[in-house]
Amino acid sequence: MRIIQAKDYKDMSRKAANILAAQIVMKPDSVLGLATGSTPIGTYDQLVEWYEKGDLDFSDIKSVNLDEYKGLDHGNDQSYYYFMHEHLFDRVNIKEENTNVPDGTKEDAQAECGRYEELIRSYGGVDLQLLGLGHNGHIGFNEPAPVFEKETHCVDLTESTIEANKRFFASAEDVPKQAYTMGIGTIMRARKILVVASGEDKADIVAKAFFGDVTPEVPASILQMHPDVIVVLDAAAASKIAEE
Ligand code: GLP
Repeated sequence: MRIIQAKDYKDMSRKAANILAAQIVMKPDSVLGLATGSTPIGTYDQLVEWYEKGDLDFSDIKSVNLDEYKGLDHGNDQSYYYFMHEHLFDRVNIKEENTNVPDGTKEDAQAECGRYEELIRSYGGVDLQLLGLGHNGHIGFNEPAPVFEKETHCVDLTESTIEANKRFFASAEDVPKQAYTMGIGTIMRARKILVVASGEDKADIVAKAFFGDVTPEVPASILQMHPDVIVVLDAAAASKIAEE
């Protein structure tokens, strides 16, 4: 695991975007695993800027997103489908048919999660997976649990995740209670993983996840076992590392 320290959010975003851009340049038909949440927004903005300058071409890129709320349709501005179109897909030349987000409108969780897992397999796996980090150490929507869930599955969101994400909804009651997410096994099969974390509120979990014990109670801690992980942190998110 390599930790790269950035000065601030902008610097973190540029460094993370550089790693994604290098992947796109080196392998123009890469399969990118993409993430939502507020942290990667600056990374996507930077990629769009480089695309607009003519430095990046997404025409052969395929993407698979980590997760989606169950029950939200594509038009819902809180769906991750909507988020990805707003922040990246509609701003670069990626082909719509090459972009994938689990379909939260599908009631049959087993069928949808199985389809998604099979789709990733048919793409030959993920070349580079971008991840944010939840306050409780979740990645995608893999919440702390007694075991690591391997495949794409349906999860019940924890109170702390609902609480953290309610800022995007009218109230906590409006936050969906379930989501579809790639499993820990799905994430760990990615050839490379890039984690971004920013802000003081992530400092404790950064120290715990990347320097503490590997345990399913801190899902991101499994990343310590992956052979090719880069974690890009701003100074605030890195501030508790020495204390662990
Ligand atoms: C959500 C997403 C995660 C994301 C996390 C952190 O729960 N499912 O993929 O990493 O939020 O979000 P933020 O970057 O806004 O702190």
